[in-house]
Amino acid sequence: MAGVVTGYTLAALLLSLTWADHPHHPHNHHEAELSCHTLSPFNSNFAFALYKRLNTEAAAGTNIFFSPLGISTALSVLSAGASGETHRQLFSTLGYDTLNQTQVNKAYENLFHMLGHSRENEQLNVGNAVALRSDFSPLEKFLKVVRHHYSAEIFSVDLTKPGDAAAEINTFIANKTHNMIKDAVKDISPAMVMMLINYVYFKGEWTKPFNRDMTMKADFHVNPTTKVQVDMMKRTDHYHVYTDAANHTTVIKLPYKGNASMMIILPDEGKMKEVEGFISKEHMRNWHNSLSEKYVALQLPKFSISTEASLKQTLNEMGITDAFEDRADFSAMSDKAKLKVSKVTHRAALSVTEMGTEAAATSVIEIVYFSLPPTIIVNRPFLVCIWDHSIRSILFMGKINDPTA
Ligand SMILES: *[C@@H]1O[C@H](CO)[C@@H](O)[C@H](O)[C@H]1NC(C)=O
Ligand SMILES: *[C@@H]1O[C@H](CO)[C@@H](O)[C@H](O)[C@H]1NC(C)=O
Ligand SMILES: *[C@@H]1O[C@H](CO)[C@@H](O)[C@H](O)[C@H]1NC(C)=O
Ligand SMILES: *[C@@H]1O[C@H](CO)[C@@H](O)[C@H](O)[C@H]1NC(C)=O
Repeated sequence: MAGVVTGYTLAALLLSLTWADHPHHPHNHHEAELSCHTLSPFNSNFAFALYKRLNTEAAAGTNIFFSPLGISTALSVLSAGASGETHRQLFSTLGYDTLNQTQVNKAYENLFHMLGHSRENEQLNVGNAVALRSDFSPLEKFLKVVRHHYSAEIFSVDLTKPGDAAAEINTFIANKTHNMIKDAVKDISPAMVMMLINYVYFKGEWTKPFNRDMTMKADFHVNPTTKVQVDMMKRTDHYHVYTDAANHTTVIKLPYKGNASMMIILPDEGKMKEVEGFISKEHMRNWHNSLSEKYVALQLPKFSISTEASLKQTLNEMGITDAFEDRADFSAMSDKAKLKVSKVTHRAALSVTEMGTEAAATSVIEIVYFSLPPTIIVNRPFLVCIWDHSIRSILFMGKINDPTA
């Protein structure tokens, strides 16, 4: 029966503001709007590629949920500080090969500008931050780019108290994600110089909320031999639906008040693997364009999940390798210290209720010294020698036994 979501594992729940690639009408659109859409096809391709990667690595039966926009943005901030091969790998994996960093920065600036516009009934908050080791100064040019184009907040943390520094970062992320993500950072490397932080928070109310009185316990079939009890919400109404029989999939669109909607892709029984194998931006566009209004009895579980992923291995396999190695080139972040990425972590949470959806994600990229700069403390007697380079002569020489004498 079309529209009844009781089948096998619930497919990827995809939240998006711009599913279908909007055709470009240069004469009707403001230039900024065009430019903020330039990234959307690339970011969609990256999203599906990342989904497939995460899926091959995930243990059977686990949930996958992440913010593609959040991860693309965090990696773009990182690429703003990268040069050479390190930069090339980041751009290639993000699909930005045909663009340069300046264009990408500008496109994100426009995207944040668009997102900043007030939205009446939905709340989408996407932002960036840089937590800086208090005794480390990155290049001012890099900070200017992240502040200006990525609207990043910059704050410093005291690494002499790593526990307090982590707590401070976690409080920041918890605040931005309305407490959906509380412990984003578990431990901080003593060699950490900078943490690039992205957060995405979304709260949307269904245009057609479910009636709480209709929600009943029902089975959800995790696989052919495992079922779990869920709170199944019900609503019989007109929805945009498409049954793609040839491709074994039913697609349902649940709009939120405002500009966002949830697309649920429900593969037929036993067809999840097949659908995951071919799903792409083109399929989504085709499905989206094929939706038509039908009167259906929809049943959708009410649920709350959270996920946590360490992306280093995944990104390595997608072609981002140098950033994590001693050959990393982050000379656009610092011309003095040799830096590399130590970890990329992503956490996300999703809650679906009768009233709507609340979702949040955070991506954290930890940047460290290759090795901690050696500490030199002149706290014992020392020799001193003042040398003039031009005349190659020792001007002064001595031994300091007691600087207070
Ligand atoms: C980036 O590309 C644009 C458009 O092709 C060009 O005008 C600009 O000079 C390029 N910037 C850099 C830094 O290469
Ligand atoms: C939807 O997006 C348009 C811009 O694309 C904006 O003007 C409008 O305010 C948005 N509506 C809501 C309810 O956010
Ligand atoms: C986040 O912090 C700001 C400023 O301190 C505060 O006004 C806001 O209520 C906080 N938001 C949440 C969700 O805690
Ligand atoms: C199934 O997917 C293919 C793309 O792989 C598409 O061309 C075709 O139209 C889809 N079938 C239907 C019935 O929509």
